[in-house]
Amino acid sequence: MTNPRTFHVKSFGCQMNVYDGERMAELLGAQGMVAAERDDADLVVLNTCHIREKATEKVYSDIGRLRREDGSTPLIAVAGCVAQAEGAEIMARAPAVRVVVGPQAYHRLPEMVAAAAAGGRETETDMPAEAKFAALPKRRKSGPSAFLTIQEGCDKFCTYCVVPYTRGAEISRPFADLVDEARALVEGGAREITLLGQNVNAWRGEDQAGRAIGLAGLAAALAELPDLARIRYTTSHPADMDDALIAAHGNNPKLMPFLHLPVQSGNDRVLAAMNRSHDAAGYLRLIERVRAARPDIALSGDFIVGFPGETEAEFADTLSLIDAVGYAQAFSFKFSPRPGTPAAAMDAQVPAAVMDDRLQRLQARINRDQLAFNQASVGRRCTVLVERQGRQPGQWLGKSPWLQSVHCIDDAAIGDLVTVDLIGAGPNSLAGRRVG
Ligand code: 5AD
Ligand code: SF4
Repeated sequence: MTNPRTFHVKSFGCQMNVYDGERMAELLGAQGMVAAERDDADLVVLNTCHIREKATEKVYSDIGRLRREDGSTPLIAVAGCVAQAEGAEIMARAPAVRVVVGPQAYHRLPEMVAAAAAGGRETETDMPAEAKFAALPKRRKSGPSAFLTIQEGCDKFCTYCVVPYTRGAEISRPFADLVDEARALVEGGAREITLLGQNVNAWRGEDQAGRAIGLAGLAAALAELPDLARIRYTTSHPADMDDALIAAHGNNPKLMPFLHLPVQSGNDRVLAAMNRSHDAAGYLRLIERVRAARPDIALSGDFIVGFPGETEAEFADTLSLIDAVGYAQAFSFKFSPRPGTPAAAMDAQVPAAVMDDRLQRLQARINRDQLAFNQASVGRRCTVLVERQGRQPGQWLGKSPWLQSVHCIDDAAIGDLVTVDLIGAGPNSLAGRRVG
């Protein structure tokens, strides 16, 4: 096979995978390869997610779907967390896969692809801490809203979660590298940057003067980039919400009033069995302090229903916590036993039908609160960052400071930061009218 000239990267899962997928595309682009649609590409990278059910099966069916009408297949590379967790098995079961590369090793993709094109089969799942970022090309172009990975990995070992095994130990990227990458993104067109990490608020570093800082200090430094208008971060762990970060929500005007702070359950026995290192009351106190710093903050969370042994009464505690917080949005999942995690081997796995029922009831509350939050926003005046064209003529879509989708009919251009009055609310979006 000759060296591929065109490529297609397909990312599944979290925003960090989206970021990784963009960096892989930049890396391949720097080799002179050109992006193409999946069915036309010489090289297809499946950037996989292992967080929940059926991830591996999905990868095999995606691989099958890459076979073309004439019976040929592109050069297939499997990247991401399934590659990390199940690389050897993928190589054994799927002869069409030529490259398996884990999330900490994808800077080696071009040389691995070249070796595969020459007839080899290449696997790299080592987890060297920082070689990857140093080896990636400088960023050049960006949409109005960009991702920037500042931290990776997890040392928390929640008993249900594969991330400590697929992404490795917590590492923080150095301050100077992050300021450089943020500046490059802004020069390339970004007006908003979302700082990413599996435990983003565990980021630690030293500023230019050698002072130890956390995420609040990093956000303060990034706020000094004049053309950067908005800073967000995700995903946070309650144990790492330090005083400075809470205060930053009140004193850093570029830090958007939105906080994704997963709690998973509202019951203390379940939280302990999950190894979450906080109880329900501690989480609620934390929320109160964040709200004191920034009263209009929109809160978001993640929930797992049907953790092993979860009783109806314990589930009811989660519903009560949801009522107490009033989330602007949230993600919720049925517990999925992940191979190798402690929770997968726990007794009293909850039957699927019970999980389905609980998930529906939980999502009904979240939907109710999300609609209420959107309705309460009507009458507010705010900025909206225009991200893309809408379906109707002249319509564009963007995000409010509270991460709501806003649509508006007006002649704004993508990347504009416009002031609007919010005039109507639905469950998933708001209507805006431009001011002035
Ligand atoms: N089962 C169900 N949901 C899970 N999550 C992580 N691991 C599991 C699992 N084994 C959810 C958590 C986490 C989000 C990213 O995915 O809610 O916060
Ligand atoms: Fe999926 Fe988690 Fe890996 Fe992100 S970190 S790709 S959500 S398994």
